[in-house]
Order: sequence, then C-alpha cells, then structure tokens
Amino acid sequence: MGLYESELSGTMNPEPRTQNRNSEHERGTRNVEPGTVRLSDIATPALVLDRAALDRNIARMAAFFASGSCRLRPHFKAHKTPEIAKRQLAAGSCSGLTCATVGEAEIAAGFCDDVLLANEIVAPEKCARVAALARRVRLTTAIDSLAGLEALSRAAREGGASIGVLVDLNVGQGRCGVEPGEAALTLARQAALSSGITLRGVMGYEGHLQPVRDRAERESRTRQAMQGLVRTANQLRDAGLPCEIVSAGGTGTYDISGRVDGITEIQAGSYALMDTDYSGVGVPFEPAFWVLGTVVSRPARDRCVADCGHKSMTKDHGVPAVRGIDCATVTSLNDEHATISLPPGSTVEIGDRVALLPSHVDPTINLHDVFYVVEGQVVVDIWPIAARGYIEHRTRTRMEEPA
Ligand SMILES: Cc1ncc(COP(=O)(O)O)c(C=O)c1O
Repeated sequence: MGLYESELSGTMNPEPRTQNRNSEHERGTRNVEPGTVRLSDIATPALVLDRAALDRNIARMAAFFASGSCRLRPHFKAHKTPEIAKRQLAAGSCSGLTCATVGEAEIAAGFCDDVLLANEIVAPEKCARVAALARRVRLTTAIDSLAGLEALSRAAREGGASIGVLVDLNVGQGRCGVEPGEAALTLARQAALSSGITLRGVMGYEGHLQPVRDRAERESRTRQAMQGLVRTANQLRDAGLPCEIVSAGGTGTYDISGRVDGITEIQAGSYALMDTDYSGVGVPFEPAFWVLGTVVSRPARDRCVADCGHKSMTKDHGVPAVRGIDCATVTSLNDEHATISLPPGSTVEIGDRVALLPSHVDPTINLHDVFYVVEGQVVVDIWPIAARGYIEHRTRTRMEEPA
C-alpha cells in the first residue's frame, strides 16, 4: 500500500476548503504563520489538535495490529484530514483506508492506493465516480441488494473498470446489510457472476456494540456478532467463491473483533482523536483535539459564556467536557454559545480562552475547515480538513460566487 504524491489529485475540486472566500479561517490561516503564533492569537471557535497526543494514539493502535493476522484499515470519515490519514498509514499495520462517502474516497485516493468505501453506493452518478476511482486505485465498496450490485456493474462496464465489492451483513446493528447465511451467499453468487465486479468478501459493522460500557458484555456480544460474519465468509469459500476480506470493527471493539479468527481487517476511526463518549467506554486512547472558544460574557459568579456553540461542535452524544478548569461543566450549547457552570471563586474573565472536549469526533470535525496543530501553546501547523462536507457541491458554489 503506497502513498501518492498529491493528496488531492483527482478530486472534483482540488483546492483545499480553506481557499473558499469569506471564511473567517481563510483570513485566520493567512495571518497565522505556523511556529510564530500562539493559541491565544487565533480566531475562535477553532479546532485544535495536539500533534503529540495524536501520534501516541496512532502508534498505540498500529502496535496492536503489528501482531496477529488482522490488519487495520483506519476510517477516514472520522477526521477527513489527509495529514492525519498519512500519519496513520505511515505508522504501519494498515491494509489501506476506509471511507464512508464517494467524496472522501476521491480525496483518499490522492494518497492511498487501497480504499474501502464501506457503504452502499447506488445512484448512477456516484457509481460512475466509483468506477472512475476503481481505474486509479484498488477500490472496494459494499453491497446489500441486487439493485445496488446492478448499478455498480453497469457503471463498471460503462467506465471500463473493475469494482471490488464486499457483501454487507447486518450483524445486529439493524442498519444496512443482508442477514448472515443464505441471503448473503445468494448476493455473493450474483456478484461473482456480474461483469465489471470483483467479489472480495464480506463486511459487518457491529456499530451497536461500540458504546457498550461493560467490557465483559461488549466482549461477549461482539464475539457472538462476529460469529455470523465469519461463518458466512466460510460459506462463501465452501461454495467456491472468493472471500479474501472479512471486515468489521470500530474503536470500541478493535481489540475484540481484531482478535477473532477469520476477521482480516478493522475499520476503526475515532481512536486517533477520541471524544468524551469513547473515553467513557474505557479504550486506551487519549483526547487529542478540542474546540477552542473565547469567554464573551461573565454574567454571574458561577457562570461564563463562551463563543463556541453547537455550530462548532455537535451534542448528539452529549455536551462537551471542559478541559483545564476543575469542576467546570457545560450546562448548555446554543448555536454560538456554550454556557459553562464555574466552581466557587473561579477567576475566569471575559477574553479568556476555554477548551471544550467534544462528545463525538466525526460530526464535530465535519463542521470545521482546518485543524490548528499545536505543541503546547504554539501553533506549529495548519491542516485542511479536505474532505469535510460534500465535496461534489463545491464547484457549483464557486461558480455562483461573483468574480
Ligand atoms: C461502517 C463503519 N465502520 C467503522 C466505524 C467505526 O468508527 P469508530 O472507530 O469511529 O467508531 C463506523 C462508525 O460509524 C462505521 O459506520
């Protein structure tokens, strides 16, 4: 698995998102000369990344997969940031990257030659983009229906490509996926017969088990869920069908599914950056990012308000935690406000900076254009979140802007 020169080659809009006009962070990043600017100087709200903590998380996960036969395929959707993905690949133990959208896969294919698009792609326009990608890199995607398979097969034939597929199984999450066993075997047989399609195996994401707090329960339920996946993989092989990939797992189950005989790859993503939800699960990774805000109001002795609301971090997994102020808690998040309850005698003043640890990595990062990468208080780099949003809509936005 190699690294390509240009991370953005082949995307519909090769310029990083930070080049859009009218962005506060465009001005912010132009003004920020890495190495000379301190955190206290950047515009808030902003996404801050502790590079040393990120590297420790990446190294810890790579070390786990350095032994055993299972590989890691880090999920790009968690951070959508090429600089982070390149560090994950460089750390080793990886078979490639996982993506959730065609746009992410287009960005990832700029620097990674083995991409799993672990999602059902059915629209003709998107299938055509998948076929175009499959001509450039080893591209594998998920199917759970005949209709999806036929759409991909048609696009592959028209595009002169061979698209790899995994049959997606429902291993208990109740989202996409056919049932393990006969239904999966039937679809796999059909895939093996379809022109332009290369059957590569099966996947089954045990998403419902990632947040289970009790380790023993998480372990036993995950092993059980993986049995259906591994059994189906063996049924494919017994039927003479190819099944080189058996893919599953996330940050909450990487060390359970990743040690089940027959699972070949794990799709974990959040571990690199971590959020408070996963910290509660007790996985051995540390928070590596936060949202930086500025205190804009101090209306009571026990309360302050910062300028980082839920337009800068999501609250679908709960309100964020406050870093660096003992006993301070976020009591509510509004669009552009975080209301923070302060301990008695707090010396927080208007203009002070606050660091909030988000409860959910993926959707929070998707709200931002860049990471301010820090060592201590110094901004040492700025990394574009190149795959944020839906990149296919960017060209139109640019065209509509006045010259
Ligand atoms: C298909 C799929 N695989 C893997 C993951 C694992 O991601 P994480 O490690 O961030 O929980 C997810 C997360 O939503 C997913 O949807």
